[in-house]
Parts: sequence; structure tokens; C-alpha cells
Amino acid sequence: MKLSILAILLGTAFVSSPALAADNPGTGILKAQCISCHAIAKPENASLDRLWERKGPDLYYAGSKFNKPWLVKWLQEPARIRPAGELYTRHVKGSDKEDVVDESTLTAHVKLSKADAEAVADVLMALSGPADLVSKGAFKGDKVSMSMGAMFFNKLRGCAACHQAKPGTGGSSGPELYTAGERLQADYIYSYIKNPQAIDPHIWMPTLNLAEPDLQRLTGYILQLSASEGK
Ligand code: HEC
Ligand code: HEC
Repeated sequence: MKLSILAILLGTAFVSSPALAADNPGTGILKAQCISCHAIAKPENASLDRLWERKGPDLYYAGSKFNKPWLVKWLQEPARIRPAGELYTRHVKGSDKEDVVDESTLTAHVKLSKADAEAVADVLMALSGPADLVSKGAFKGDKVSMSMGAMFFNKLRGCAACHQAKPGTGGSSGPELYTAGERLQADYIYSYIKNPQAIDPHIWMPTLNLAEPDLQRLTGYILQLSASEGK
């Protein structure tokens, strides 16, 4: 009984005050320049309305998601990840055939100096989110055949309807994946494909109940894409 009360108290403390290092200048930058668009603490109400209204992706589990060298680089030179921004419904023009991105509604992302990017990345990488968010060691690291991977990605599992594995080819309602290997941790990619809503509640990527070999193959394919298409 006492233990469960303690757990509730600790849980609440985590939600309302994330583990932000007060002495790091990155904390001040995040609070002043970033939290108007990004959540750096787990939202108490992860509703569909909140997803629909958010102005930028959640960053409260950044430490379980990003590769730090990519983060430091991207914050200085932000290149578009979501072809139709956040959220895509606000930036596509209606069309019967396929989505056309209305570029005039998309704005450039704030850029940081090298020192600020490093300070912010230090703070973000310390935010690991809920302990069970990604399954550590889930991706086994096997090399996969790129042609088999492409067949599953494009045809058999329908990922290309929303994602680009090559610049300019594929859907625009999900993030491009040709730089995902540089950008994201392997176990995050695996866990996201396995159960997208466990990481981002209400997100419109389907949970496909993929078998283990499929999860390994798609994760390996996406990681290898970065080397072939992302450069
Ligand atoms: C005006 C709203 C806005 C502000 C302010 C803003 N961002 Fe963003 N941020 C976005 C949007 C929109 C995206 C998605 C960009 C894309 O996909 O190309 C994004 C993407 C990101 C990403 C990549 C996230 C991912 O999951 O792919 C990081 C990291 C990031 N922002 C960090 C920051 C930091 C650090 C600051 C403050 C210095 C900041 N942002 C300020 C709107 C904002
Ligand atoms: C109906 C559209 C849709 C389909 C189909 C889809 N996804 Fe997604 N996917 C998304 C959206 C939306 C996100 C997250 C958007 C965000 O973070 O802003 C996402 C995120 C991801 C991410 C994490 C990327 C990141 O930058 O955070 C990976 C990896 C991924 N999808 C892989 C796949 C794979 C593999 C398939 C096929 C099995 C697939 N997706 C099918 C819409 C889709």
C-alpha cells in the first residue's frame, strides 16, 4: 500500500518536472525557444485533439529516439524530415489523386549555433521517457537484402504509402526514412514499427502486428537506407 502511494507520487513528480539539468544552458534555451512547439515532459492528456493541434513532434523521449551526433548537426542545419510538416493535414492541398504539399504554409525551423546545439542536445539526450518505451536490444543487427527489404517496404507491407525511402518517392504523411538510420536508434525504429501508438498515442501509422522476421527485416532495411539513399 505504502509502496503504491510512493509510486504514484514519483510518477507525478516525473510528469510535472522532467529531469532537466538546471545548470546546463541548454535547459534555458529549450524553455525560451522550443517548448512553444515541443513537449519536453510527458503530456498528462495524450488525447487525439492534442495530437491534432501540436505544432512539433514530442521531444520528451528524445534520449531513447535520436542519435546524438545527428541531433547536434540537425539543430545547426535543420533539413525537412516530414515532407508536409507537422501536422500534414494543415499543409496539403486537397486532391483526388495524391497529396500535394503547399510549400507556402511551411516555415523554416529555428537554427542554433554549434555551442547552443551541443548544450541543447546534452539536455535532450538525458530525456529518456518512460522506461518501457523501447525494447533495448530488440534489433539483432543482421544485414538484410536491400531488394527484399524494398519489396516488403514498398509492396507487401505498404510503408511507402506514407514514407519516402528515396527523396521524392513515396507518401508525405509520415517522416522520410532515408536518413532514419543516421537520425534514429535501431531499437527505436524496431519498437516504433512494432507498435506506433505505444510511443505516440493516436498516431495514424497502422499497427500491423508484424511477425518478428518482418520487424527485423524492415528495421535493417531502414538502417541500411541511410547509407545508400541518405547521403
Ligand atoms: C514554431 C514551432 C517550433 C519551434 C519554436 C521549434 N520547433 Fe523543433 N520542430 C518543429 C516542427 C514543425 C518540426 C518537424 C520538422 C520536420 O519534420 O521537418 C520540428 C522538429 C524538431 C526536431 C526533430 C524531431 C523529430 O522527431 O523528427 C527536433 C530535435 C527539434 N525540432 C528541436 C527543436 C529545438 C531544440 C527547438 C528550440 C531551439 C525547436 N525545435 C523549436 C517546430 C518547432
Ligand atoms: C498511414 C500512414 C503510415 C503507414 C502506412 C506507415 N507509417 Fe510509419 N509513420 C507514420 C507516421 C504518421 C509516423 C510518425 C509521425 C511523426 O512522428 O510525426 C510514422 C513513423 C514511423 C517511424 C519513426 C520515424 C521517426 O522519424 O520518428 C518509422 C521507423 C516508421 N514509421 C516505419 C514504418 C514502416 C516500416 C511501415 C510499414 C510497415 C510504416 N511506417 C507504415 C505513418 C505511416
